[in-house]
This record gives sequence, C-alpha cells and structure tokens, in this order.
Amino acid sequence: MSDPNRPPHMGAPCDTPHEPDDETRLTRREFVGTAVAGGALLASGLLSPASVEAASSKVPPGLDGPPVPPVSLTLQVNGQEKELTLEPRVSLLDALRENLGLSGTKKGCDMGQCGACTVLVDGRRVVSCLTLAVMQRGKSITTIEGLAQGDTLHPMQAAFLSHDGFQCGYCTPGQIMSAVGFTKEPWGPSDADIREGMCGNLCRCGAYPNIVAAVREARAQKA
Ligand code: FES
Ligand code: FES
Repeated sequence: MSDPNRPPHMGAPCDTPHEPDDETRLTRREFVGTAVAGGALLASGLLSPASVEAASSKVPPGLDGPPVPPVSLTLQVNGQEKELTLEPRVSLLDALRENLGLSGTKKGCDMGQCGACTVLVDGRRVVSCLTLAVMQRGKSITTIEGLAQGDTLHPMQAAFLSHDGFQCGYCTPGQIMSAVGFTKEPWGPSDADIREGMCGNLCRCGAYPNIVAAVREARAQKA
C-alpha cells in the first residue's frame, strides 16, 4: 500500500486520499458556488441531498449565486440532536465551531488540505471545511468532544497522551479523529500503512513519529 520511495513522514501528498468526497477536490470558489446552488435546492425541498451532490458537479466554476435565506435543520452531533438555523452555504466546520460552540475541531487551511478539521460522519472521516452542514441531516457526526466517555478518554486520546503525539496541539483533534477512522479501514499492519493512511493530516510541529506510535498502540487495542 505504501511507496518505499516516499519520504518517511506523513504530510506528503497522499497516494491514497482518505477523504473520498468529491467536494474536497473543488476549489474554494467552486465550493462556494456549489454550496449556494445546492443549498437553495435543499432549502426548497425540491431535491434530496444525494441529488444535490450529484447535481453540484454541474455548477460552472466561478458561479457565485445570489444570497440564500437561512434554513432550519437538525444535526445529530455526538449523540445529541442540535437545532440550527444556517445559511445553506455554511460548512460543517463553521456550523460546529461558530453555531454549536464545538471549537475542538480546528480550522487550519479551510481548503481541505491540512486535515485539522477532520470529524467522523457515519463513522467515516471527513474534512468538515469542505462539507456542507445542510448535507449532514440524518447522519451521525462525531467530533473530538464526543470521543471520551465521561472522564474516561477514548483509547486513541490516551495513546496520543502516553506517546507525546503532539507539541502545540493544534492538529491533534484532527489527527485523533482521523486515526479513529483509520483504524476502521482496511489498511495493512505496518507503520508505513499508518503513515500512508494518515498522510492527509499535517503537523507543523513534526510530531509524526510519536503520532505513528500512538496510532500503532491504539490500533492494536482495536480503538
Ligand atoms: S481546515 Fe479543513 S482540511 Fe484544513
Ligand atoms: S502538534 Fe503542532 S501542528 Fe501538530
């Protein structure tokens, strides 16, 4: 699964991107245009989320639509129903941070390139900066705030602590959420597989060896 010629660190371009949603490959301008058009259709009830996702690829790049009125929606976040009123163009990241006060999910690049904003949606890791909140209705969203059980840390959180898998800590919530998703995916057993599978999560502090050690340990516990 890994390329032996790649430098031995995470953060290099992914050979196998872990985020499969097509919107991560849109430019920011395309994304905003898509958000406006898709949100309007969703708000009107004329299209299902799946239909809007399919149609979104047909929005011409650079088409900035007119303002769209806010919509009411319910999101299931960390096992709780959350009522929101949002502009349809609001990303899941901004909805979590700005509307729900869940600031554990970090905004790094806001362009789908650093992984700091990774959350789980129906158990799959997703970069929340390039995912619309209105498209998450009916799905189960898990953020870093939802991992621990009371005072008991999730095994991946405990492993990051015990292996010093962070320095400044800014990338850490995204790293941990991505690692939890990673452990449920069919990757091989080696450290090279961990590096490859986690390559979309950048760490400016370069804590990669410790992150790999943490993921290895937690993965062995089936975290
Ligand atoms: S903030 Fe979302 S990938 Fe960087
Ligand atoms: S610990 Fe500082 S960016 Fe990763």
